[in-house]
Amino acid sequence: MKRIMYISTTTRKLTDQEVEEIGQKSTINNAKVGVTGVLLLANEFFFQILEGEEDDVEGVMKRIRKDPRHHGLLILKAEHEVSQRLFGNWSMNTVRLDGMSDMLMQAVRIMLENITETHRIIERYTQPAVLQFMTEGINPLTVPVQKTEQVILFGDMVAFSYLSGLFAVEEVAELVNLYLEITSRKIAEHGGQVTKYVGDCVVAHFPPDRADDAIRACVETLQKIQEVRQAAGQCRLQKYLYCGFGLSKGPVIEGNIGSSIKMDYTVLGDIVNLAARLESLTREIGKGIALSEPVRDACHQPWNFILAGEFHLKGQNFAQPIYSIADPAVDDMKNYLEISRLVGEGYCMLP
Ligand SMILES: Cc1cc2nc3c(=O)[nH]c(=O)nc-3n(C[C@H](O)[C@H](O)[C@H](O)COP(=O)(O)O)c2cc1C
Repeated sequence: MKRIMYISTTTRKLTDQEVEEIGQKSTINNAKVGVTGVLLLANEFFFQILEGEEDDVEGVMKRIRKDPRHHGLLILKAEHEVSQRLFGNWSMNTVRLDGMSDMLMQAVRIMLENITETHRIIERYTQPAVLQFMTEGINPLTVPVQKTEQVILFGDMVAFSYLSGLFAVEEVAELVNLYLEITSRKIAEHGGQVTKYVGDCVVAHFPPDRADDAIRACVETLQKIQEVRQAAGQCRLQKYLYCGFGLSKGPVIEGNIGSSIKMDYTVLGDIVNLAARLESLTREIGKGIALSEPVRDACHQPWNFILAGEFHLKGQNFAQPIYSIADPAVDDMKNYLEISRLVGEGYCMLP
């Protein structure tokens, strides 16, 4: 059996009748499939525990997730192989806690608010893969290290150190955040996982059959960044936002790597280093994307691939063909020297 606990927030103030209706419907529906549990409402917070056979709990959860009366559903705990029910006698006991004495109500409300806030903070600092394990009821620390095939994406801003020395620290931080936001959203949108940030670098991985999506994430990021540059004022740092992406594909070690002080769920290996080298190469070839032959070969879409040349990259045993894509956003690339010239031409009174 499976047991799931979650917290969510009402989208608006619900009347007693509406809460009663949720309770009644839940009791009837859950009884039909043998799901039991409890639903608490404390001011704007719902807290629910559901237990039953895995498929039945999932079925109920699927409907609950779509319910417009609440949002921000956050799984606090998912347990598998539960042998005993906690609420065996209740198809769904729904309790409105607003009726409790003011002090008690206040305490429960603060507790739920704190749990929600803590989880939201942890969520922002945690790798998506780790969160995924946790919401599936798997302790990430117990997941064994494995060898997997991945498409690795490595992205970085051009001339970041140079620019960060010229502009106000707030503007620099704002730009890095904007860059990471655009890139990470595109990666997630197209089915990739952000593995980590290293300063202004993004490392991400995609399943081996999603090379097209990895390229799409890079091209769309470059298009978005082009728009940011075009919309920026003459003396704004955003005017000089350029970035490059390296894409490689091959075997990596995926899993928990770290120490007792800090653990990372990450990817390691020669292929990750290659993606970093390819990213550096983007400046040399004057293209926003550089990719290896295995990435090109794994694509199904008719991208306008062009051969950038044969390169013997640091850490690699042989020279290998490196490709890019003919695309207006990918071609719109500048290197360090060109950016410094642009800054000079701007005649900006920099602080
Ligand atoms: C916080 C919350 C908890 C709910 N819990 C349950 C539940 O345990 N079981 C259930 O069938 N519906 C539950 N619902 C209602 C479902 O979202 C959905 O409206 C209902 O299952 C639709 O039932 P119907 O298809 O019979 O009309 C809940 C809704 C909310 C907002």
